Amino acid sequence: MFEDLLRDWSGEEAVIRYDAESGAWMFVCIDSTALGPSGGGTRLRVYPSPSDGLADAMRLSGAMTRKFAAADIPRGGGKAVLAVPELPTGDARRRLLLRYGDLVASLGGTYRTAGDMNISPADLDVVAERCQWVYGTTGRGGNSARGTAIGTLHAIRATVEHAFGSPDLAGKRVLVQGAGAVGADLVRLLQAEGAEVLVSDVDEARAAATGATLVAAADVIGADCDLYAPCAVGGTLTAETIPLLRCRAVAGCANNQLGAPEDADRLQAAGILYAPDYVANAGGIIQLTGLEDLGWSEDELQAGLARIGETLRTLFRTASAEGITPAAAAELLVAERVAAAQAHTGR
Ligand SMILES: NC(=O)c1ccc[n+]([C@@H]2O[C@H](COP(=O)([O-])OP(=O)(O)OC[C@H]3O[C@@H](n4cnc5c(N)ncnc54)[C@H](O)[C@@H]3O)[C@@H](O)[C@H]2O)c1
Repeated sequence: MFEDLLRDWSGEEAVIRYDAESGAWMFVCIDSTALGPSGGGTRLRVYPSPSDGLADAMRLSGAMTRKFAAADIPRGGGKAVLAVPELPTGDARRRLLLRYGDLVASLGGTYRTAGDMNISPADLDVVAERCQWVYGTTGRGGNSARGTAIGTLHAIRATVEHAFGSPDLAGKRVLVQGAGAVGADLVRLLQAEGAEVLVSDVDEARAAATGATLVAAADVIGADCDLYAPCAVGGTLTAETIPLLRCRAVAGCANNQLGAPEDADRLQAAGILYAPDYVANAGGIIQLTGLEDLGWSEDELQAGLARIGETLRTLFRTASAEGITPAAAAELLVAERVAAAQAHTGR
């Protein structure tokens, strides 16, 4: 199975290591370094088979190439998966993370990591004992949710501007699905802009703590609002849900919001403006890469986050002019930026 996956993959490099002590497979997939050294989080997960872990790392590394390219950050796409037989704890976890740190260090900075599923800032501290290419550790401020929330706010302003003619959020009814690390922060930012904020979370206490108007988790899709911000889970925009939406626009931070690529066309046909998720939610990688890898100041970070809004305005204009969806316009932008860099670097 590894053979088929590797043969069919268009990425640059896949590093595979079997860790005998833990029974884990370590996969580091470098999709592209055309725009710069590759970056992307490390995911710790139990998979049905090691091949599923490799396939996940390949797919996610391609998504990181798109995210960095759309954010206009000089980094390529990478992703690592630690496919474990069971989630490790205690000293076994620490030893696995140290050995993983050695592996990432051996790549000399062509792959740079942050956290992903089941990898906390404290875990990254352990990886960083062996490797300098680690971002989002506790010592460096850890959480990227702040940048993601601010970036998503810029995305919402740009989307509202294109849909309603003005970026002013005062009085706009915005439904935030998910009041977690990003969603709760986003609710606060929207409230500060005078928006009428609705919030929903399967953990109702979490949603209630925001002070926004509560919507039951089951009622999100049919809720009447100007803009729906998916900030919980992926796959909420599908052939089944899109006809039920009662919003004019969608912009949120959740990854993989579309159930299938054709759902972008379904949204367009339904008259709903969609901000492509990987453009809207790039604030976290902009924060981590900008502050920790590129040495940006706070002002440079805020300018980088604001570029999310500028990029979306350009995409919406291109999409309208060309009669394509914003998602298709984003793919074209990414392809152009990567091709231009490839022509320059030969990678
Ligand atoms: N944290 C980041 O910097 C970042 C960056 C890019 C993308 N994202 C994506 O944004 C989303 C939110 O990230 P987060 O860091 O805030 O996660 P989180 O785990 O802190 O919060 C997610 C929240 O969603 C709630 N939830 C889960 N299922 C739900 C449902 N069906 N309906 C309503 N609420 C539900 C959970 O109870 C939780 O409060 C995720 O999809 C994540 O992949 C996060």
